[in-house]
Amino acid sequence: MPLVSMRQLLDEAAKGAYGVGAFNVNNMEQIQAIMEAARETKSPAIVQASRGARSYSQDRFLYHLMLAATELYPEIPTVLHLDHGNSVETCKSAIAMGFTSVMMDGSLMPDGKTPSTFEYNVKATREVVETAHSKGITVEGEIGCLGGIEDGHGAGLDGLSHLTDPEQAVEFVRETGVDALAIAIGTSHGAYKFTSKPTGETLKMDRLLEIHRRLPNTHLVMHGSSSVPKDLQDIINQYGGKLKPTWGVPIEEIQLGIKNGVRKINVDTDNRLAITGAIRKVFWEKPEEFDPRSYLKPARDAMKKVVAQRMTQFGQAGHAGDYAPISLEAMAKRYQQHLTA
Ligand code: 13P
Repeated sequence: MPLVSMRQLLDEAAKGAYGVGAFNVNNMEQIQAIMEAARETKSPAIVQASRGARSYSQDRFLYHLMLAATELYPEIPTVLHLDHGNSVETCKSAIAMGFTSVMMDGSLMPDGKTPSTFEYNVKATREVVETAHSKGITVEGEIGCLGGIEDGHGAGLDGLSHLTDPEQAVEFVRETGVDALAIAIGTSHGAYKFTSKPTGETLKMDRLLEIHRRLPNTHLVMHGSSSVPKDLQDIINQYGGKLKPTWGVPIEEIQLGIKNGVRKINVDTDNRLAITGAIRKVFWEKPEEFDPRSYLKPARDAMKKVVAQRMTQFGQAGHAGDYAPISLEAMAKRYQQHLTA
């Protein structure tokens, strides 16, 4: 099956009351890990690439690897999503390349660092929605700013300084017609999210519940949602790494989100940790090895294990075969007829 629209996956997830993990990739092994985990757990898959990933992979390598994924895993509904598009142009270039979903992150200016105004965000996002929907492509927007920096994108804020205002969120969805909405509730990108297990003071789940109450039909997106498990940290440190003690987003909080409108959960750091731990272990235990496969294979296996676990925890496992893909052309018609305001 060809790459499918993210809107379809999220609509199905809403019907089934589950969430779908969106996992970041830069290379072949990471794509393989996600697709293998999806096959093992019978899950729909969202593969996402940031601007940094697109430049690392020269874009076309990534796109053709994704085509290979659709050939080799025809039973898995698979989305290729742009993570944190910084401008209308970046989103348009992803659409031209063949991405089936884009995020227009207008919460920051095109430098990817400076918090923007509400008016700028609405204007840029609406422009992307018009272009994308005419081609059946999904759009995720963001209101409020996340903490941290990812692939050079992010204001370096702490997670609490620009939380999403629920009233603005309602206006933003109405004005832009986005398919999915990323919200800021205290999470940040990267390994260092919380200095102790998060409480209601640092991870604002009450804010999420309030946004869902006001926007019950909008697919919500949780960014910065790696759980940063202690066992993955320990493997890295056991084999010569130097991670400082840190906490991520507990799985039970994500599951509470899924019960309250969260349909897409972004996870990158947990996979980075799994890969790095597996490679460090081989380097430590077998310093005589120099065949890249001797460490890339365990790295790929370690990422697959994390992804399969998340797919099960988010509830998407078992749902790959629930529906036939809707073509992008048909999605475009649906938008024309009734999906957009
Ligand atoms: P983590 O750093 O928590 O994995 O977040 C990834 C993310 O939100 C990508 O947009």
